[in-house]
Formats: sequence, structure tokens, C-alpha cells
Amino acid sequence: MMNLLCAMSTKPALTPRSRKRIVVLISGNGSNLQAIIDACAEQRIAGQIVGVISNRPAVYGLMRAELADIPTFVVDHTAFLNREQFDQALMQQIDQLRADLVVLAGFMRILTAGFVAHYHGRMINIHPSLLPAYKGTHTHERAIADGVNEHGCSVHFVTADLDSGAVIAQATVSIELSDTPEQLATRVLTQEHQLYPQVLTWFCEDRLKLEGEQAYLDQQVLEQPLRLEFS
Ligand code: GRF
Repeated sequence: MMNLLCAMSTKPALTPRSRKRIVVLISGNGSNLQAIIDACAEQRIAGQIVGVISNRPAVYGLMRAELADIPTFVVDHTAFLNREQFDQALMQQIDQLRADLVVLAGFMRILTAGFVAHYHGRMINIHPSLLPAYKGTHTHERAIADGVNEHGCSVHFVTADLDSGAVIAQATVSIELSDTPEQLATRVLTQEHQLYPQVLTWFCEDRLKLEGEQAYLDQQVLEQPLRLEFS
């Protein structure tokens, strides 16, 4: 009787077959990777990270993956003659891992159009701004310099133009007058660590998809990015 009650009151156990195969691409610290590792371990995300690939050797994110017993790979961009060759090698590694979903988590490389097209609808990125504002780098410095009072982060499908794919969800942070870029980055990161796992949860439950250039959640077009609030 106990067992039956338990089974009825919890989600069914995830078998490897029901879990999406996630490959995470990183370039550095990997704090977003850690948030995703934790969410998979707690079965908030119906997925398993089958590999972490870094374009830079010896970054801390690789250590985080190793500590979680996740296979790690380095595809060092400096070893390739051009972007096409690097992307080709990266694609080979991802496809060997049979990824259902490619997650960019602080991956600091611009990808070629061919690479992006290959993963259309199954590659997601997090960006530290309220897109379409502040595409590119140094987002926190630029937001402070402009004197805006609202900033944050966005999770979006990746399409060929940099930081321009359909935005799925955002979380906001207020900018204080005394903020340094580092202080603001820390507060934005805290939001990223909650926002990214939430979006990946939807994807892995087949609730989120991209059709053409349009994102859908639960069959509804996302006309605007969802604004989520976290503590
Ligand atoms: C995050 O702010 C992410 O949005 C940006 O790079 C940073 C990576 O941080 N693309 P981490 O490596 O996940 O700690």
C-alpha cells in the first residue's frame, strides 16, 4: 500500500529513454552548467547531460562536469585554421553524443550559419541582457553607462544572427545607482541560474518548440518573451 501511494503521489521515474540527451557547450566558469547539472540530478529537468564540451582547455566548468561524472571534451578553437573547420569538429563531437538538445552556457564563440542550421530548434542560449537590448558582449557595463534602471537575462533559441533568435523567457534585475558591472553581473547570474533550468524543463517535457522562427510553449505562440520572477 505504501508503495502504491508513493507511486501515485510522485512523477513517474525517468528512464534513460524518457530523458532528453543534453550536450552543454561552455568556455569558462560554468556556473550555468552547474545549475543545469543540479536540476537534472534533482529530476526537475527530464534530461541527462551526456557530454560537456569546452572550446578552451582547463576551464573550471570542465571540473564541475567531471565532479558530476559527466564525460568532458575539449575542442580547442585555436587548433583550427578557420571557423568552418572548428564548427565541423564541434558538430562531429556533438553528433557522436546523439544530442537531442544543445545548450550554450557561457560558450563564447560565434557559430557559422551551417552549424546553427544543423541544430535548428534544438539549440538554446542564455544571454545576460533583456534582448533585444544589448546583444554582444559587455552587457552590464553598457546598461550601467546608459543609465537604464532595468536589466536582466534572456533565454532564446539560437538562429544564424547573433543573439537574435526567438526569445523564450526573461528575468529582470533592477540597476542601483551605485552598481558596478561586477555587482550587477552577480545579481543577473543568480537569475540566470533559475531561468535556464526552467526553460530547459519545458523543452525536455516537449512543451517548448521552435517552428520556423517562432517559439511555442504548450502550443501557444510566444508573442512576447515570458517574464519570470525568481527570488
Ligand atoms: C553568463 O552570464 C552567460 O549569460 C554569458 O556568459 C556567462 C557565463 O557564466 N553568456 P557561466 O560560465 O555560466 O558561469
